[in-house]
Amino acid sequence: MNKPDQKRKILVTAALPYANGPIHLGHMVEFIQTDIWVRFQKLRGHECLFPWSDDTHGTAIMIRARAEGRSEEEVIAEADADHQRDFQGFQLQYDNYGSTHSDENRQVCGEIWKTLRDAGLVKEKDVEQLFDVEAGTFLADRFVNGTCPECKRTDQAGDNCECGHTYSPTELIDPVSVLSGTTPEIRSAKHLFIELEQLHDFLRQWTQSGEHLQPEVANYLKGHFLGDPDSKEGAKELRDWDISRPAPYFGFEIPDSPGNYWYVWFDAPIGYIASTLQWCKKNGQSLDNWWKNDAAEIHHFIGKDITYFHTLFWPGMLKAAGYSLPTKVHVHGFLTVNGEKMSKRKGTAFKAATYLKHLNPAALRYYYASKLGSKLDDIDLNFEEFTTKVNADLVGKVVNLASRSAKFVKDVGLSETYPDDGGLFESAAATGDEIAAAYENCEYNKAMRLILELADRANPYVENAEPWNLKKDPEKASELQDVCTVALNLFRQLVIYLSPVLPDLAEKTGALLNDPIVSWDQSKTPLTGTTVSKFKHMMKRIEEKDVKAMEEESKAEAEAAAAAAQTAATADQFNDSGQPMIDEPMAEECTIDDFMKVDLRVARIVSAEHVEGARKLLKLTLSLGGDHRKQVFAGIKAAYEPETLVGRQVVMVANLKPRQMKFGLSEGMVCASGPGGEEVFLLSPDDGAKPGQRVH
Ligand code: MSP
Ligand code: ZN
Repeated sequence: MNKPDQKRKILVTAALPYANGPIHLGHMVEFIQTDIWVRFQKLRGHECLFPWSDDTHGTAIMIRARAEGRSEEEVIAEADADHQRDFQGFQLQYDNYGSTHSDENRQVCGEIWKTLRDAGLVKEKDVEQLFDVEAGTFLADRFVNGTCPECKRTDQAGDNCECGHTYSPTELIDPVSVLSGTTPEIRSAKHLFIELEQLHDFLRQWTQSGEHLQPEVANYLKGHFLGDPDSKEGAKELRDWDISRPAPYFGFEIPDSPGNYWYVWFDAPIGYIASTLQWCKKNGQSLDNWWKNDAAEIHHFIGKDITYFHTLFWPGMLKAAGYSLPTKVHVHGFLTVNGEKMSKRKGTAFKAATYLKHLNPAALRYYYASKLGSKLDDIDLNFEEFTTKVNADLVGKVVNLASRSAKFVKDVGLSETYPDDGGLFESAAATGDEIAAAYENCEYNKAMRLILELADRANPYVENAEPWNLKKDPEKASELQDVCTVALNLFRQLVIYLSPVLPDLAEKTGALLNDPIVSWDQSKTPLTGTTVSKFKHMMKRIEEKDVKAMEEESKAEAEAAAAAAQTAATADQFNDSGQPMIDEPMAEECTIDDFMKVDLRVARIVSAEHVEGARKLLKLTLSLGGDHRKQVFAGIKAAYEPETLVGRQVVMVANLKPRQMKFGLSEGMVCASGPGGEEVFLLSPDDGAKPGQRVH
């Protein structure tokens, strides 16, 4: 037995999700990982706070708001509601949910900014950047395409080419703004930088001390950014960090630099502090008690893609501003699906909301726990393994202990003294410390393995004792009660160990045995003499059909998104005068034979309707003559009122393979031209054409 822990004060964060998109199962790896850790700490009796927030600023939100004709505030309010709905669906237990677009965040950003200025860490430099005159904005790298200066491939991203070359967007040949399709110009603007190199010694010491980071993270920082003063190459100089963006930008204007805004990555981590401040205000606590208190620990959970921000800039900023430094930054790997990167196009970037429509949150919580270790390895989602783990391990070995015994003691309750179980309870209690250490070290996979091993020892006990047979013999009533007392106690012990992962199961177990699970220490003493409630279903098995339905729905969502994007893509291929842009690469050459495969027909629109929930689509019923009809979903909602379309003749691709979309089956396409959005023009055949006629 180790000595009881002192009561710790622990602040825990997960990365703040971007407000410009829905939560997917990749994000959930981290959010579930964090929630488990928080619940574990609380169960151990520590004071643990999980302040959280949406990350709302930046160009992406600004562009989206414009495209949707809404204010940024509207966009982020909707994201906030959607995100929190998903988080509650997955039973995440955060203490406050803020927004980086809050008064508190503006205030803390201002205070930290001032200390950085006073410390002489801020400097100004002119930066040349591409400017889209049409859209009236500077262009972040991802909003520019062009020809690679190295290999001359066309249509490459703003900062790197397929050939592997990286560059600044200003070096692109024939750059094109993704926003307007126009050629941006190079403009110079003042930017503010933090001179990180001034903190080099501190950052080396902090990152390399072996206390705050996983070894692979410390090595990565040394190799890529800090260098090693003792090596031949010596130390590297840390680059200045560009933390401002000129207007227009959705964010906070820098108080002493009008027209300039803090870059989203400046105010995002400060959002951790701002959310804590909101919580403190509501709960009558002082912020310094959490963020300027050596007795309080600070733990960040993040994905490997944002390591740089959390292990160099963030500690640098905190240090300079006099806040506590992170006790630990826990970095995890990425979720893959069947060994491949999640793909929106393929429909494997499963949305949290779609998952929740078909499957149980507890199943994913358990599956992730069984896969998560303390390293940065990617973790793979494989639905076959998912189904087996939940059905065979969780339902088959854990829940089964209760379902095979609880009903026999419903009237008599648990025995008054704990019966002889051959040492099972005691030895499982002794394993508790090892399981706790695994949770503490983020080795949830190890914790799950240890718990399952205990279940493997408990099950033979029940199988040998055969309570269902004892039940048949009234003489054996007291033996039956003892056997069930053991089975239910072994079950409860496992559920206590699992409760950070499966809060719902813990709650149901508390209700079954009339003793709520609130503390890890409850695993050390058997429960006796309590009444036992009627056994209610505790956990559903995973049905293959539900998994399939979830996968199908995700695929349909992906196809609907692709169809919507197609309309948008048309927009990109035209400049403002409506001329096709010659710089835009042509599609791959097609032969006359290829072309002849496309069966273009005159069709008459028989009906046109809005589609509930679809932003861009109208549902058309098209007649090809006689009673030959086809249903088509067309991305023309912004351009046409459905009533005006009925009776009109159009040109359709009649032999397109039907596609199952989110809203139904689409059996063709109608031909249109124009830049997209409101400006889509359906092609009309000449007067006199008849439905069903081929178009040549
Ligand atoms: N807004 C920033 C974080 C700011 S923190 C001050 C951000 N947001 S995000 O929504 O893109 O990602 C949130 C977290 O989810 C990040 O830690 C990211 O690493 C993690 N993940 C995003 N996709 C993931 C997977 N496919 N797999 C595992 N984690 C993933 O980054
Ligand atoms: Zn190239």
